Amino acid sequence: MDLLVTGGLGFIGSNFILHTLREYPEAVVTNVDDTRYGSNPRNLEGLPADRYTLVKGDIADLGIMSRLVKGKDAVVNFAAETHVDRSLSNPGSFLQSNVLGVFNLLEALREENPKARLVHVSTDEVYGDAVEGSFTERGALRPSSPYSASKASSDMFVLAYARTYGLPAMVTRCTNNYGPRQFPEKLIPKTILRASLSLKVPIYGQGTNIRDWIYVLDHCRAVKRVLEAGEKGHIYNVSAGDEKTNLEVVGEILRIMGKGGGQDLLEFVEDRPGHDLRYSLDSSKIRDELGWEPLQSFKDGMVETVKWYQENEIWWRPLIDDKVLSPTPWRLTW
Ligand SMILES: NC(=O)c1ccc[n+]([C@@H]2O[C@H](COP(=O)([O-])OP(=O)(O)OC[C@H]3O[C@@H](n4cnc5c(N)ncnc54)[C@H](O)[C@@H]3O)[C@@H](O)[C@H]2O)c1
Repeated sequence: MDLLVTGGLGFIGSNFILHTLREYPEAVVTNVDDTRYGSNPRNLEGLPADRYTLVKGDIADLGIMSRLVKGKDAVVNFAAETHVDRSLSNPGSFLQSNVLGVFNLLEALREENPKARLVHVSTDEVYGDAVEGSFTERGALRPSSPYSASKASSDMFVLAYARTYGLPAMVTRCTNNYGPRQFPEKLIPKTILRASLSLKVPIYGQGTNIRDWIYVLDHCRAVKRVLEAGEKGHIYNVSAGDEKTNLEVVGEILRIMGKGGGQDLLEFVEDRPGHDLRYSLDSSKIRDELGWEPLQSFKDGMVETVKWYQENEIWWRPLIDDKVLSPTPWRLTW
């Protein structure tokens, strides 16, 4: 399979490429990434040149995308501005990358390769707060942040192109991922790194916001399954059903790191504006129709994750500064 991956230098994209090259010996991957903050060339160092090519480029550039989609069997779109905190202070770049970028990717496919399968990787955040119960794929979209609004818009474009132009395109909506190679600004790596550096661990508000966590490789396996067998124009929710408050997640990490309950390490800070209280997805469609299920438990996945950061200081040390590890990043200018 000749595959084009966008945003493959980032957290999930790089894990997806490593997983694909490892598990599918016939796969050849081209990765287009314009090396923004979430990206890290170290994520994919040393891959064989006959199976992996990196192209530096913006998915919003129609010329580049038209050239890259030609002849590909399939495209997986991970490229996006993803840091919700940054979307509060700089929403314009989210519109440019996440909406215009996806639009141009779709235009390139429509013009140059309308038979290529496309998986557009989206997020549970498009549904907004789940006050009670869990969203199915039929849930209304009520995004709360500029990030989630931009992802919801791009989902709509993908579904419209599947229907109007017949592109074999699918949308996956996954819950919060954790695992190796996540940029240190996000909750889990930030907690591990601040605790390793004996800094206080910030908790937004009361720490009662609930997220449903999934190990990154389980998400990658779900994307691959949808790429192989998903139905054109369909949405697939992806979740492991591991709902936890932020306080529980931080507590688990500190326990794994041998910091006891860690109460004295916690610092409660002002909550982020528009912070959704709870996300929760019903993922029975992908489980029942495509036979996918998560393999990693939260506890084991978190042990793996902590271990990875402890063993890979060479990876994270150059990425951290006061801004990246800030307790209240949404207050900063990005
Ligand atoms: N991280 C999560 O928990 C999560 C959960 C559900 C869905 N998602 C979705 O998965 C995808 C990947 O997320 P991630 O956490 O790996 O993000 P990330 O920020 O780690 O990586 C994003 C990558 O996309 C690249 N990129 C951004 N804009 C680009 C553009 N215009 N052209 C080319 N490359 C561009 C960046 O350079 C970076 O390498 C995103 O679409 C995100 O919405 C993430």
